[in-house]
Amino acid sequence: MLAGKRILLIIGGGIAAFKALELIRRLRERGAAVTPVLTRAGAEFVTPLSVSALAGRKVYQDLFDLTDEAEMGHIELSRSADLVVVAPATADLMAKMAQGLADDLAATLLLATDTPVLIAPAMNVRMWQHPATQRNLATLAGDGIRRVGPGAGDMACGEHGPGRMAEPAEIIAAVEAALAGGPLRGRRIVVTSGPTHEPIDPVRYIANRSSGAQGAAIARALAARGAEVVFVTGPATAPPPEGAEVIPVETAREMLAAVEGALPADAAIFAAAVADWHVADAAQNKLKKTQGGMPALHFAENPDILATISGLQNGRPPLVVGFAAETEDVVAHATAKRARKGCDWILANDVSAESGIMGGAENRITLISEGGAEDWPRMSKDAVAARLADRVAEALDQA
Ligand code: C5P
Repeated sequence: MLAGKRILLIIGGGIAAFKALELIRRLRERGAAVTPVLTRAGAEFVTPLSVSALAGRKVYQDLFDLTDEAEMGHIELSRSADLVVVAPATADLMAKMAQGLADDLAATLLLATDTPVLIAPAMNVRMWQHPATQRNLATLAGDGIRRVGPGAGDMACGEHGPGRMAEPAEIIAAVEAALAGGPLRGRRIVVTSGPTHEPIDPVRYIANRSSGAQGAAIARALAARGAEVVFVTGPATAPPPEGAEVIPVETAREMLAAVEGALPADAAIFAAAVADWHVADAAQNKLKKTQGGMPALHFAENPDILATISGLQNGRPPLVVGFAAETEDVVAHATAKRARKGCDWILANDVSAESGIMGGAENRITLISEGGAEDWPRMSKDAVAARLADRVAEALDQA
């Protein structure tokens, strides 16, 4: 709940501005007070009247609106909030923020504020992928600006790819996480979870039995401690966590792209059961039984997401955590895996049939780090998640 929280909502100019109206409604439903600021470009997409009607208060538009003595000055306006939300955050607004420009009311408020800021970027895919935008994004992350989205999908401009503004429900989750106290407040953490589906043809695929329960529990535990969690999940059966930004993917290659798109981050936790191979020549049409004989499938190796992110020269998260499901010599194999993948920690578990862990509600972990192996008692997957989240908070505080 957001009862009593004060949100300063800056609405930038983009087609996604219409979603800001729904966002105002939902924020108010949860008890938050919303002070809206509409940029000149934003007012081309939504009217000041609809914004102020939904917010139930005046909409601020112009720097010089505030010169009247009866009005709040811009410094005061920028600070009279618990959180500043920029939705949609256009490429232009992000560039202004990264540069520290103050040439209109929105930019001035963003420069003057001393409260946390959350941006929900929205723009054309090429603009999002442009090195200038990516540079600005890295600058903003370094400045402690929190981010939700963008998602991938069909865009109003007819193109496809990342750039769509996060949905209002996802922005609400990010607002709640940003306002939650806790040891991970201000930390951005990427979690992978679930199986991957590797297509054979348009209707068939290769998969595994991962439920995604441990990954979802980890994401929930991190969000409950105030982290901004990006949850990249294959098609899992466990419900996705509340309070996280959820990015659904199917294949290992899509999962890697989603993780790369979610960086920079303070930590990355790879709990997904990623297929090692994909079918290299997946058919465009459904394979027919009548084609004569059984089809031969040719496999190609999938990217190792954990190893790829661990090995990044630029932008490697300071803490990278992997899992190792082993059936024998757990510590020896997991220690070798930690070195091979180049990650900081490995959470090893014994998934031999005797352990009863695979598909169960419990887990028994050995944490392998630079300092050696540490056995955790057998506990529920939720308890494993809580313990890991506490350890992540400690490690990031020390870093
Ligand atoms: O090599 P193995 O699959 O045992 O490694 C397990 C760890 O590596 C897990 O953390 C898993 O999420 C990650 N992994 C990955 N990408 C792959 C294979 C495994 O991120 N292609």
